[in-house]
Amino acid sequence: MTLLDGKAVSAEIRSELARRSGEFAARYGRRPSLAVLLIGNDPASEIYTRNKIKGCEEAGIRSLSYRLPGDTPQQDVLELIRALAGDDGVDGILVQLPLPAHLDAARLLCEIPPEKDVDGFSSQNMGALALGKEGIAACTPRGVMELLSRYKISADGKHAVVIGRSNTVGRPMALLLLNANATVTVCHSHTRDLKEECLRADILIAAVGKPKFVTADMVKEGAVVVDVGMDRDERGKLCGDVDFENVKDKVSYITPVPGGVGPMTVAMLLENTLQAAERRMR
Ligand code: GUN
Repeated sequence: MTLLDGKAVSAEIRSELARRSGEFAARYGRRPSLAVLLIGNDPASEIYTRNKIKGCEEAGIRSLSYRLPGDTPQQDVLELIRALAGDDGVDGILVQLPLPAHLDAARLLCEIPPEKDVDGFSSQNMGALALGKEGIAACTPRGVMELLSRYKISADGKHAVVIGRSNTVGRPMALLLLNANATVTVCHSHTRDLKEECLRADILIAAVGKPKFVTADMVKEGAVVVDVGMDRDERGKLCGDVDFENVKDKVSYITPVPGGVGPMTVAMLLENTLQAAERRMR
């Protein structure tokens, strides 16, 4: 079994990005920039946005952090996004999800111009992905593809099974795998025989959000297992969607949690931001 070390790969990517950001700054007289909006005080979102802002610093990207109270009216958020959309010095806009219940996330995300939508959540970028065209792809699925690629694991002709169909991970993940010529099965809460489906996977992606949901009896010998989960076990310890200890000896490759997909998400956000900046200036 080989560990897919997202922490090490993301450090490599961040140093490549720092070099490219330096070139960008020398050429255009400013650094690439990312606006990060955090509304409310969801503890997980606080950690995620802190990591994203720290990642920006390390990669030579200017971060503009907007922290708004949990009761900020829809109109105020809308106006802030519009201002950032119209600001030539802002290359990327990220609204951390989930939003407080009174805000209409879909409506707000529509206000981010596709060329600044570094999360890849807009209909235009998701549509491009669905059509197999170039757009900005969601960070976590893109991070999974990049991690596989750096370990020379090809999805071409493989049977990939994605557990989960969220707009942030499962759906775009399935589309990226399809675009990479995998045969893709998407499983979800209504799937009839989940274990049988999973046992067919050469590449199994777990994006369920339930601790240790994928057990050894669901995994084919020699499969590649990617764990997108960030959960807490019965003792409150951080773990993934995969029962790592019991699955690891059966597989060819597996991501740890933490240190697998998580750092890759941040690296791809920075990559998307730099690409958005480069495209905008061209
Ligand atoms: N919440 C959980 N994952 C993500 C993500 O990738 N982007 C944003 N904006 N919010 C999230």
